[in-house]
Amino acid sequence: MKYNIAVIPGDGVGPEVVAQAIKVLDAVAEAYDHIFIYKEAKLGSCAIDKTGNPLPKETVDICNTADAILFGAVGDPKYDNDPKAKIRPEQGLLNLRRALGLYCNIRPVKAYDNLLSNSPLKREIIKNTDFVIYRELTGGIYFGEKKLSQDEQTAFDVSSYSVQEISRVTHLAFQAAQKRRNKVTLVDKANVLETSRLWRRTVTEIAKEYKDVELEYLFVDNAAMKMILNPTHFDVILTENLFGDMISDVASSLSGSIGILSSSSIGTKNGLFEPIHGTYSQAKGKDIANPLASILSAALLLKYLGLYEEADAVERAVDKSLALGFTTQDIKRKIQKSTTTSKVGDFIADYILNQDDSNMNFRNIHMGQSTII
Ligand code: IPM
Ligand code: MN
Repeated sequence: MKYNIAVIPGDGVGPEVVAQAIKVLDAVAEAYDHIFIYKEAKLGSCAIDKTGNPLPKETVDICNTADAILFGAVGDPKYDNDPKAKIRPEQGLLNLRRALGLYCNIRPVKAYDNLLSNSPLKREIIKNTDFVIYRELTGGIYFGEKKLSQDEQTAFDVSSYSVQEISRVTHLAFQAAQKRRNKVTLVDKANVLETSRLWRRTVTEIAKEYKDVELEYLFVDNAAMKMILNPTHFDVILTENLFGDMISDVASSLSGSIGILSSSSIGTKNGLFEPIHGTYSQAKGKDIANPLASILSAALLLKYLGLYEEADAVERAVDKSLALGFTTQDIKRKIQKSTTTSKVGDFIADYILNQDDSNMNFRNIHMGQSTII
């Protein structure tokens, strides 16, 4: 089959990790006889430099006509340290989410057996962690009115939610729970916030349609703690935009590295697939960033296109690289040397093309070491 894929490398290490995901998609195309047509588009700091706009119209057009979108990362330290900047790279991503109606962000969190010792948390606590965060992505405080007073002494950001915005993501979370372990945890701050109370009321009502799914409520502060103390407690977490952003970074500590967590954003028109990590600008151009989050985002993209066998091959190749310790430095094991971003991409692409589990020399070949047993 033929698919049009919009590719938005973005800023920082975005282009380096997305290049590995493309390598992997090319291997999938070859092994499974597909054609992927890529159209590259600009977003973020690189788009501001070129056009003055973090989200050029051309980028929205390319995304609108694509079957799916592969995204890297957005942001630049020169804006982080300049609170006065009126135009910011992140606006590009937020506006794209809005323009494409990507209201549901799905972030799977898994503790890989091969990475248990990479987490600062005890292995017996994180072992078997397997949950997914359903984060509302186009509402709440991210998109409410914002203002800085004339004298610059006061500022506000409005958080607002409608029943309709809450309902559509809630249905997706409950449907996901039905295919998993039948539990939804609604994370909010209903002891303080009116919006959270609307979430509770709406979600409680919708839960009646899903009798086989258990619904529990947790305040966000408590949920963040529980995620560290007892992560296997969770199955599907449903939450608003800002809380979802925060707890997904907390959750990354369970997986050994934020460099391996991928995400899908879905909604009314299209699907966008991206790592949950940011631009990691200190690593830009050094070929050291972990490409697995981007490669696993490509696997999610394949599932979105209905290519399950292909996605499974990508995930097995990633598992293989972890099992053999063929990884970047953020997740290397003590006794092993780490390798580079591009070599991890080569390894995974090659594994998809060969899928030869019997080849004990696979790691050595890629490490550029002896190939003779
Ligand atoms: C994320 C990011 C974005 C967000 C930023 C880059 C705007 O942190 O996708 O988690 O806050 O949503
Ligand atoms: Mn974030």
